[in-house]
Amino acid sequence: MKIAVAGTGYVGLVAGVCFAEVGHTVTCVDVDEKKVETMRQGISPIYEEGLEELMQKNNARGTLHFTTDYREAYRDVDAVFIGVGTPEMPDGSANLSYIATVSRQIAETVERDCLVVVKSTVPVGTNDKVEQFIKDFLVHDVKVEVASNPEFLAQGTAVHDTLHAARIIIGTQSKEAEELLKGIYEPFHLPIVSVKRRSAEMIKYACNDFLALKISYMNDIANLCELVGADITDVARGMSFDERIGARFLNAGIGFGGSCFPKDTKALKFLAREHGYQLKTVEACVEVNSAQKVRLFEKAKERMISFSGLKAAVLGLTFKAGTDDLREAPSIDNLKLLLGAGADVYAYDPKGTERAKQLFPEGRLEQGSMHYAGSPEEALEGANICFVFTEWGEIKKITPEEFKKKMHTPLVYDGRNLYDPKQMKKAGVEYYSIGR
Ligand code: UGA
Repeated sequence: MKIAVAGTGYVGLVAGVCFAEVGHTVTCVDVDEKKVETMRQGISPIYEEGLEELMQKNNARGTLHFTTDYREAYRDVDAVFIGVGTPEMPDGSANLSYIATVSRQIAETVERDCLVVVKSTVPVGTNDKVEQFIKDFLVHDVKVEVASNPEFLAQGTAVHDTLHAARIIIGTQSKEAEELLKGIYEPFHLPIVSVKRRSAEMIKYACNDFLALKISYMNDIANLCELVGADITDVARGMSFDERIGARFLNAGIGFGGSCFPKDTKALKFLAREHGYQLKTVEACVEVNSAQKVRLFEKAKERMISFSGLKAAVLGLTFKAGTDDLREAPSIDNLKLLLGAGADVYAYDPKGTERAKQLFPEGRLEQGSMHYAGSPEEALEGANICFVFTEWGEIKKITPEEFKKKMHTPLVYDGRNLYDPKQMKKAGVEYYSIGR
């Protein structure tokens, strides 16, 4: 089928590339001319395993196109997928301005009946409005319907998650729309759950917020483990055998970040309040997470007289391993605190350094200073304190002996529970982690 995709962020680009991979003819639209030019050359604007290979393969066989010309892209297609961002507004609600812009562009350019499929995460009820909005602005005498098709890919495994999704959720209001969308997904050979549009929108939030709740719950239990002398990794292992609980997303740590959980928990909380309901569980999850992000810094503050003039090694900046994304990463809150307290920060991250430099430029500040190290060893050399924020393989494999040897004061605050406390102690490292 002929498909256009609006937006080439994580959601839009990966969807477009995977649709091309299974045999559809796809045109991805983005406003950024430079970005479009690089994507035409098979270069991905984001780091995502396997993505560039598929871009190059499908660019070469002529099934994947990139353009800024939305008129040409939307004019004559079976479906337009919307994968633009819905960032958080200051009050926690979702900003729908990109969705509105694309909807209007679609309305003004489609010249044949087509299905508009919203992949972006939008508050329940938004797609009803998108459909009305498009109808209001239609220029040609054509039939346009809107479907909801939320995305469940995780960054770092986006291509795999799309091609091997646990299920495809489609939310439609007519048999025709349902059949068309089922046809688009048929070549993926994945289970399809077909529901009405508002339920599909809600499934997305319910899933993300449930996973976020699971993490906050484990972080809460981890904090209690510390007080009562239990070990959260053992507790999680014991829980994981219960299939009703499941083995995944039980890792306590420095709190969740990224472009999804922080935004989607706040958005659902906001949506509930708008409807006169207080979603107490989700509100608690948000609260636990904000405290968790700075828990290790708070702990370190209790031990130190001052951070001023100390060399602080920071290992890991991205919100999780396998991505170069720093959005809402716990490292950001902690870097602000460390620099604010006058520390000389030496940060290492295998993929996130370039993006981090835009937020925290290298150099001396009013208080403290920011530096980027080319390796974990360089960051640790002569350090007085070390914080671990991301579970990258190269960080995980640092041995307790290396911490002891490289650091001036072997003092490690680990937000990902990467090392064995006994081994650290044996090597002479003063070690703090989460819930152990
Ligand atoms: C998340 C969901 O997992 C996807 O299903 C969803 O499609 C996506 O949001 C989205 O809405 O677009 P993502 O944000 O890429 O994906 O990353 P996750 O792997 O879910 O991790 C989110 C955060 O939770 C990370 O900071 C991670 O370190 C943290 N986390 C995860 C934990 O602290 N503990 C865990 O056990 C698991």
